Amino acid sequence: MRFRLLSALIASAALVAEAAPAAASYDYIVVGSGPGGGPLAAELARAGFSTLLIEAGGDEGENPTYADIGNFNEAANDETTRWDFWVKHSDDPAQDLKFKHTTWDTGDGTFYVGLNPPEGAKLLGIQYPRAAVLGGCAMHNAGVCSMPADDDWDIIAKKTGDKSWSAANMRKYFKKIEKNEYLPAGDAAHGYDGWLATSVADNSWAKNDSLPGTKILKKLAELTGQDPNDAANLVNRDINQAGKKVDETTSFYNMVTHANNKGKRSSPNNYIRATLADPAKYPLTVKLHTLVTRVVFDNATLKAGSTPRAIGVEVMEGASLYKADPKHVAGTKGPVSQILANREVIVAGGAFNSPQILKLSGIGPAAELTKFNIPVVKDLPGVGENLGDNYEGSLLALGGAPVESGLITLLFRTPNAPNKKRNIYTWCGAFSFEGFWPGFPTYHGPTQYTCAMVHMAPKSQAGSKHGDQDLQELVGGANILREAWKAAGAPVAPLDEQHPCPGGKDDKCTDAVQADYFKTQAYSHHATSTCAIGGDKDKLAVLDSKFRVRGVKGLRVVDASAFPVVPGAFPSCPTMMLSVKAAEDIIAEAKKSYL
Ligand SMILES: Cc1cc2nc3c(=O)[nH]c(=O)nc-3n(C[C@H](O)[C@H](O)[C@H](O)COP(=O)(O)OP(=O)(O)OC[C@H]3O[C@@H](n4cnc5c(N)ncnc54)[C@H](O)[C@@H]3O)c2cc1C
Ligand SMILES: *[C@@H]1O[C@H](CO)[C@@H](O)[C@H](O)[C@H]1NC(C)=O
Ligand SMILES: *[C@@H]1O[C@H](CO)[C@@H](O)[C@H](O)[C@H]1NC(C)=O
Repeated sequence: MRFRLLSALIASAALVAEAAPAAASYDYIVVGSGPGGGPLAAELARAGFSTLLIEAGGDEGENPTYADIGNFNEAANDETTRWDFWVKHSDDPAQDLKFKHTTWDTGDGTFYVGLNPPEGAKLLGIQYPRAAVLGGCAMHNAGVCSMPADDDWDIIAKKTGDKSWSAANMRKYFKKIEKNEYLPAGDAAHGYDGWLATSVADNSWAKNDSLPGTKILKKLAELTGQDPNDAANLVNRDINQAGKKVDETTSFYNMVTHANNKGKRSSPNNYIRATLADPAKYPLTVKLHTLVTRVVFDNATLKAGSTPRAIGVEVMEGASLYKADPKHVAGTKGPVSQILANREVIVAGGAFNSPQILKLSGIGPAAELTKFNIPVVKDLPGVGENLGDNYEGSLLALGGAPVESGLITLLFRTPNAPNKKRNIYTWCGAFSFEGFWPGFPTYHGPTQYTCAMVHMAPKSQAGSKHGDQDLQELVGGANILREAWKAAGAPVAPLDEQHPCPGGKDDKCTDAVQADYFKTQAYSHHATSTCAIGGDKDKLAVLDSKFRVRGVKGLRVVDASAFPVVPGAFPSCPTMMLSVKAAEDIIAEAKKSYL
């Protein structure tokens, strides 16, 4: 496979300027406008604080590639906003070279994706997509909106003693942001007046018993302890309902997305723009195409015995200045200046960029900073560590005929799960999803059928190694899903499995073989936890329970990197909840300091 590497090279004069003195000042500066930074900046401005929101990308809110949720694959491939991170799955290079979608730079302006690169191609690695755009990755993601297990919130309360993180309390932030468009008004678990539209697909297909997808659905019901005769109703169950035993309930659900019921994406982009356009003239300023290069500290606080205080940021202005941007031209820089904040700087660059910004500012593991000649402002060993992610893998088959169906969404517990909780979120349908690479996904023809699995509550969060238990749970899930396919009926069945067991499960396709497949071909796109909240005694804690960077003043991190563990199967909505919680905490603190 070959894909275009670069758009027409945008020639741009290298503008390098000396750091200019502070031009403007704001109460708060928020860096990054994704689910973490976007809602927070809007809330601070709505509370009357002059707020500057700095975003490296532009605004694509009106661009149909982003505005129409159905175009999500196109959006994630779009050079307009794409930041390509090239990652490794393993410390063993030979292991990574077995990954089917390893990507190479051919040197002639194209990518090569696959196992047999042309001579001279340079290894890039495994693509990990990110979006640099107003609204962050919530502008190119699939929009799946799913509450994490209660445990994933409660653990923050337990680690820090701050009860405001309890799952019961966090629900109020979901209610605050949600504009539910799929349930009758009055459901106590939901909000109806927020800025984040949520909607579901029409699942009436499941009433048609002659569809192959319905036959698979009913078999799946049987295999997971549900009533097959009730399947057509179960598919409409609310995935974001609240309740004590919900996290232990294996069931079909209706997949909720952060989009309205006309298919328009809903994200922090809408909220930011609504805040800017509001006749109340909230004091929000948005600076697009501006890259924050570091946090600036008050020199007077940088001497021994005092606590470093963040007073602003250094920025470089211009588009495509970041190297991960495929449009970046090597060596291009923009004018550099400093912008000051009266109150605080809040970093929300996402799970890769927030720790990078901290490290560039002198906050991180001292030995690493010293290696790069970065003066140490605060030795904080947890910055950039503890990376968490959902483990994902898929089953793909070709039917004997197109598999007529809608989407089946199932949250279930595999028999080998370590506790009573559901451990797999899966969705099955006539699509293809096998991870991320330039040009993804591969179209396997009109008979393609996929069950994509997201593994929840990963046991390993060391950033480099995955627990074997996690793999075994994916295999446990695969064995159930494959069994259900057999019920599809002629002429669709027997389905011709492409992976993890080409040709279907036989004597050769043992659990060990499948585990090896998932270990080699797994993918992920929900990175979290690289600036984690933790307790006072936790050496790797970067933040306290109020998002304050430990050991410095005037600086917080508010985005997916703050979660100590991966929240559920999909972090987008949980990160927006965390964002409005942060706003509430910060505003409360500011009001206290006025008194
Ligand atoms: C392809 C894809 C599909 C996904 N699908 C789903 C899904 O269906 N459901 C779900 O729940 N989750 C999904 N996710 C994950 C989810 O979108 C992210 O977890 C979420 O967006 C994280 O929010 P964030 O604010 O932490 O970071 P981001 O969304 O990454 O936002 C960070 C923002 O900061 C900006 N920024 C970074 N560094 C700088 C800097 N130095 N200066 C200025 N600005 C900067 C970036 O441009 C970006 O806009 C998906 C992710 C991807 C990549
Ligand atoms: C059920 O699906 C079959 C196969 O696509 C179709 O022919 C039939 O019209 C559908 N029935 C209803 C009631 O929609
Ligand atoms: C802080 O100190 C640095 C290094 O000595 C210097 O370059 C910078 O101008 C100082 N900043 C201010 C605001 O005084």
